[in-house]
Amino acid sequence: MRLLSFRLIVSLILGITVVSLLSSYYEVRAVKVSLRQELQRHAQPSGETLAENIEPHMGKGSRRELQRIVDRFGTPEHLAGIAIYDKQGSLMALTPGLASRLTARPLLVDRAASENKIVDEFSRWGETPVYILALPLHQQDSVVGGLVIVHDAAYINAQSKRLWRETFLRVLVQVFLIALITLLIVRWSIAGPIAKAAQWMKALRTGRASTRAYVPDIDLLRPLATEMATFADSLNAARTAAEKEAQLRQAGESQWTAERLSVHVRGKLGGSQLFVVSNREPYLHTRQGKTIEAVVPASGLVTALEPVLCACDGTWVAHGSGDADRETVDSHDRLRVPPEEPRYTLRRVWLTKEEEEGYYYGFANEGLWPLCHIAHTRPTFRAPDWEHYRAANEKFADAVLEEMEGVENPVLLAQDYHFALLPRLVKKKRPDVRVAIFWHIPWPNPEAFAICPWGRELLDGLLGADLIGFHIQSHCTNFLQSVDRTLESRIEWEHFAVNRREHRTLVKPFPISVEFPEPEVESAGHGSAYEERVSLLRELGVEATYVGIGVDRVDYTKGIPERFLGIERLLDKYPEYQGKFSFIQIGAPSRTHIKRYHDLFAEVEAEAERINWRFQTSKWKPIVFLKRQHSHTEILRYYRTADLCLVTSLHDGMNLVAKEFLAARSDNQGVLVLSRFTGAARELHDALLINPYDTEQTADAIRFALEMDSDEREARMKRMRRIVKEQNVFRWAGDLIGDLCEVRLDLHQEPSRRLFRRARASAAV
Ligand code: G6P
Repeated sequence: MRLLSFRLIVSLILGITVVSLLSSYYEVRAVKVSLRQELQRHAQPSGETLAENIEPHMGKGSRRELQRIVDRFGTPEHLAGIAIYDKQGSLMALTPGLASRLTARPLLVDRAASENKIVDEFSRWGETPVYILALPLHQQDSVVGGLVIVHDAAYINAQSKRLWRETFLRVLVQVFLIALITLLIVRWSIAGPIAKAAQWMKALRTGRASTRAYVPDIDLLRPLATEMATFADSLNAARTAAEKEAQLRQAGESQWTAERLSVHVRGKLGGSQLFVVSNREPYLHTRQGKTIEAVVPASGLVTALEPVLCACDGTWVAHGSGDADRETVDSHDRLRVPPEEPRYTLRRVWLTKEEEEGYYYGFANEGLWPLCHIAHTRPTFRAPDWEHYRAANEKFADAVLEEMEGVENPVLLAQDYHFALLPRLVKKKRPDVRVAIFWHIPWPNPEAFAICPWGRELLDGLLGADLIGFHIQSHCTNFLQSVDRTLESRIEWEHFAVNRREHRTLVKPFPISVEFPEPEVESAGHGSAYEERVSLLRELGVEATYVGIGVDRVDYTKGIPERFLGIERLLDKYPEYQGKFSFIQIGAPSRTHIKRYHDLFAEVEAEAERINWRFQTSKWKPIVFLKRQHSHTEILRYYRTADLCLVTSLHDGMNLVAKEFLAARSDNQGVLVLSRFTGAARELHDALLINPYDTEQTADAIRFALEMDSDEREARMKRMRRIVKEQNVFRWAGDLIGDLCEVRLDLHQEPSRRLFRRARASAAV
């Protein structure tokens, strides 16, 4: 640091000195020029006046008269002397003081006479600088002689020298002061904070400092400070994870964390690379005025898969659906994400409006979605939609294969009902790829599935995978039964595997879940549940003693109108809750392009209005319908403050709202009322399980929840939270990838047949 300041100061001194001297040089030169000009300006008019006085006496040849004029003119300031010459160049008169110095006739006087004009020059007489002015003398328009006026110009040099001296002294003082100030600035604003930063880093290294709040604010070194802060965060995260791991090992627990998942996945993959394909992308870019923002869609899938992709620098292939998506990719339609710290590649696939219409809205969401959810909305199957679905699967498969080019033994996780055909398409071209597909929605019973005109193709496409995952066992069973009734294959019921065309597919349940927050994250940044409720209800303009919460995409499978009927029944059957119980429904508009969804949104709005109209008072209303997408952080406030959470899906693969509500209740309060037709109901036995079609039961369950004894409430909540904590989303991803990596790709046929073939082969030898 000392060396740095010394170098800084020396460079500064040299720099300032050179610049100051240069500027002084030009200043002094300018002053000198202006003094000379001033001398010229004054000398010429007085020379002309003198010449006019002399001229009448020239012809008379009166030397005495001329001498008298010269003497009378005297020696004004800076005048060295005057000399008058006749036409032949003979001296006519001369200032006495000049006699000794003017040894010969100056050439200038001849020039003035011959050119008939005033001429002048600055020159030196010995050591003395002089200014000589020569004028022609006239009589009747002809030149009769010359006048020479000599000025002493030494005062100009004297003034320049003085100026140089003053400037030098000024520069000296300036350099000293600037060097001093710089030294102080360096000490106070850089050296001080750097010393503090070093201290803080030392504390960080030794585990005494923990958060980025300790990062000193070094304005000049902002990029370094930002890096230091990020570095500190990473170090702390790594340390916390390591400590947590150690604690868990100590306690003999086996909770899954993002870090544990990373280690697990890296271990399982060995040198292989991981690829994910899904319809929704983990980051979509949208235009907000003049800027482009990266938005993370509210999706459990992203939470689950992002740590995996980050851990092994994988590639995620997805539909680029943001309106600024094309502006943010490279020439290969790729970009590195997460935007703030890129760790893996997102490859975007583009779809035309028509393709999206047929594949996504049409076949996937008007066909497969209602086919798989038994919610009494008729599936619509159109041949053109099917063609688009096939083509889109091919398009995504091509993109996946392109990304896999040159990669040995890649591992692919395909996601959901948008890609039933993709496993076979990939496997056909690259048999060395390990392929799993996870089906995030229910699989219907074989009778229901049989109505799909392209059921065979869907099953065949799926069976291209090595592993097919569903949320629960009954979906696996339904799937195997559908295969059994539709395709020629051999099912190993004892292993839940399908053998078809020399290929074996394992079918297994992997119940998806949510992230379970750390205790310090859970309690950070929010007040008590009571305080939050007061401020939240004030914002909503409602007064209520009890609060219920529901969070859903507005989808007909979620049973939102049924839920509202249950609330209406509660208020009719148990009028003591009128004016006291308010239900907040967060409803994110979804797939509104499809008529059924569009109509449903209007229906939900109308139902809420109808019920409110029946019961509401000036300060209270039974249903508050918040009809927009809310971020996870916004929703957390509602979860934490509610007395109960209502999940009334008519059919649901898992339902993560139920698990999110539990994960948010670190106070062990709140009751979960849960539809028995959700996958979550298979795990969460302490929820109040209901049949959402049974309005009476729903109303009673709400009342039961509101009146539940607090010990029981706490005991139920604790048990359910333990389940969510243990079976969290990292475990889901870990199990899925772990099982996929266990699959032996050479086991493409059922074991008995392989053994039989081997035996036959050796007999032949
Ligand atoms: C379900 C599906 C997901 C889908 C999500 C949101 O959970 O299983 O694949 O992403 O709904 O629907 P959207 O059509 O908006 O992606």
